[in-house]
Amino acid sequence: MRLEKYLVQCGVASRKKIKTAIAEGRVTVNGKIEVNDATDVEWGDDIITFDGIIPQKKQLKYYIMYKVSGYITAMEDENKKTVAELLPDYVDKNSVFPVGRLDRDTEGLLLFTSDGDLSHAMAHPDNDMKKTYYVELDKEISQDDILALEQGVTLDTNYNALPGEVEFLDSKSIHLTITEGKYHQVKKMLKAVKNKVTYLKRVKFGNLTLENMSPGEVKEIKREDIILEYK
Ligand code: URA
Repeated sequence: MRLEKYLVQCGVASRKKIKTAIAEGRVTVNGKIEVNDATDVEWGDDIITFDGIIPQKKQLKYYIMYKVSGYITAMEDENKKTVAELLPDYVDKNSVFPVGRLDRDTEGLLLFTSDGDLSHAMAHPDNDMKKTYYVELDKEISQDDILALEQGVTLDTNYNALPGEVEFLDSKSIHLTITEGKYHQVKKMLKAVKNKVTYLKRVKFGNLTLENMSPGEVKEIKREDIILEYK
């Protein structure tokens, strides 16, 4: 892998600072100063130093949060409560970040990780990451509305949403599965069929679910628990 990526995975500094440090001659590979950040290095085979210290590979972390209403998806904010406040003390809040976002009033599954590659891969369209939402509605939903959602509605931003999958639960609640994640997407999709979301909860993200979790809970998972088709 590239020298720069190796050092990113050690968590020694931000990618930008690592690039600068390499260019400044502060990094050695097998005893020699290396100023090319693209130099090929391997875990275990090469000895790298950064400012004279041999850094170790940082353990990448993965957590599922059952988000509750009232918290914005951000790690810090001057005025509003953030999801970072729901993370237990044992989680290193300086290294993890949320993958995607849920609105302040939306509940449900939010993934946190320190793995930038995974987060990037999850956002890649080829991965077709399905997100399933439990949606409660203000008005009864008709068969025509369901058909429209399944064919792809046009949002108030003029964006044509991809077809969703709808599971009818009762006249005022559905499961809606989508692969996109535009701002307020579910609320806007329901607005497009002249309805209004009164409660929203993400119940599934890819293969991950909230099974056996209670509101507000956070649990650590392993990288192997997350299934990605395209990497
Ligand atoms: N769609 C929304 O409208 N809100 C969310 O929080 C997630 C999806």
